[in-house]
Amino acid sequence: MDRSVTLEKSDLNNTNFLENQDYYLNLISELMNIRKRGEVPLAYIHTYGCQQNVADSEKIKGMLSKAGFEFVDGPDDADFILFNTCAVREHAEDRVFGNVGALKKIKKKHPQIMIAVCGCMMEQKHIAERMYNSFPFVSLVFGTHSLQNFPELYYRALFSGKRVYERDNDDKKIYEGIPIKRDGTFKGWLPIMYGCDNFCTYCIVPYVRGRERSRKSADVISEAKELINSGYKDITLLGQNVNSYGKGLDEDITFAKLLGEIDKIPGDYWLRFMTSHPKDCSKELIDTIASGEHISTHLHLPFQSGSDRILKKMNRHYDRKKYLEIINYAKEKIPNLSLTSDIIVGFPGETYEDFKETLSLIREVEFTSLFTFIYSPRVGTPAAKMDDPIPAEEKSKWFQELLAVQEEIAAKRCASMVGKKEKILVESVNKKNNKLQCRNSGNIIVECDGDENLIGTFQTAEITEARNWILKGKLI
Ligand code: 5AD
Ligand code: SF4
Repeated sequence: MDRSVTLEKSDLNNTNFLENQDYYLNLISELMNIRKRGEVPLAYIHTYGCQQNVADSEKIKGMLSKAGFEFVDGPDDADFILFNTCAVREHAEDRVFGNVGALKKIKKKHPQIMIAVCGCMMEQKHIAERMYNSFPFVSLVFGTHSLQNFPELYYRALFSGKRVYERDNDDKKIYEGIPIKRDGTFKGWLPIMYGCDNFCTYCIVPYVRGRERSRKSADVISEAKELINSGYKDITLLGQNVNSYGKGLDEDITFAKLLGEIDKIPGDYWLRFMTSHPKDCSKELIDTIASGEHISTHLHLPFQSGSDRILKKMNRHYDRKKYLEIINYAKEKIPNLSLTSDIIVGFPGETYEDFKETLSLIREVEFTSLFTFIYSPRVGTPAAKMDDPIPAEEKSKWFQELLAVQEEIAAKRCASMVGKKEKILVESVNKKNNKLQCRNSGNIIVECDGDENLIGTFQTAEITEARNWILKGKLI
């Protein structure tokens, strides 16, 4: 039983490494047979942040499943509680601290349960230390770079009863073959690369997710086939900057080529991707979308700011003119193109004049929807050291102005779709009004009357009405 000698990851190839982790999963399973509170060991995994985190949690769930765990929707009955955290903005971090603090009561009532915190926040030293020191009832803290040895870490904490803290463990490798327990049955996430090399001056991601590395195209394509063959209808390829896919690989591949290869897999499905960086969004990529059979007519292309002065300070490596060139090329080539973007309001040193450039860009492009954020300083990033004289209330006013402009644009765009017939994927039932919640290829929500048995199927709807950014439709 005593296998306290932990093997160095660098000593192991991928298969041996996974076998080693499987060994720990077996040990966890044996221990949990004795320690579980109910019939089977239960886990509650709460995921914050982006789809990459969702995909990471699906791997943790895959590993826990292998150790015999089932999953619950709340922490009260769980034997294992894990928060997978996001570091992109301060607000999300504050919520995590609040929510972890609230677990103290459960731990007091059931001391045998284990509480763990992982993810991007835990790759920031000052945050991970604050978490570890403030909450003695948190037994396991690990960062994104330790995900693949989660079984070993969990076992160590479980077996020894001692707290485990592991971060800053980037070996720059990719571990293939970690089991995945997917949350959805028809919408699937498929990571194609990890990390980011762009160092936008406001962004913490390169510091917490490490350098860019791409999965081999054969591994990605084989996972895509698996998803399609098991009935997934809406597959999103994930990466912080999918456009630089392939860098450092020993094969002649670009993101556009990879997308084209996956698109050749036969089946009835949509293929999406996020996120694209405008600096290397190629015409080849736009052409691939335009000629693709399964590729959705949706392009999420974050521009962050409409002001060239601010784009430079953000280290984005494109200007407004270049961004608009790509957008106009895409609009010309892809009929019914739906464009979305991320925007930051109130970057350090941004003036109202700069902000007006953002508003004018939004008006010019006419995005379907926007993900808008007020700038949040991140410790360790260059922007956090820049002068930021604009008060929060002022930024908040700009933000409201942005929302109002976008609402008007989205309403106009949606109204222009009334009368059209759209292929839609039925996703869920909206509990508030009992309508089917569906999405079109452009990722716009369409609400219809219909039977919930249709969830997970493609249908055709005629758009009958537009309410702001939501469409109402009638199934045909
Ligand atoms: N403050 C506000 N928004 C940010 N984003 C990234 N870092 C920050 C920050 N420090 C936004 C960007 C990015 C999205 C995922 O989050 O718009 O595209
Ligand atoms: Fe952050 Fe920029 Fe990388 Fe996106 S491209 S993850 S905004 S550093």
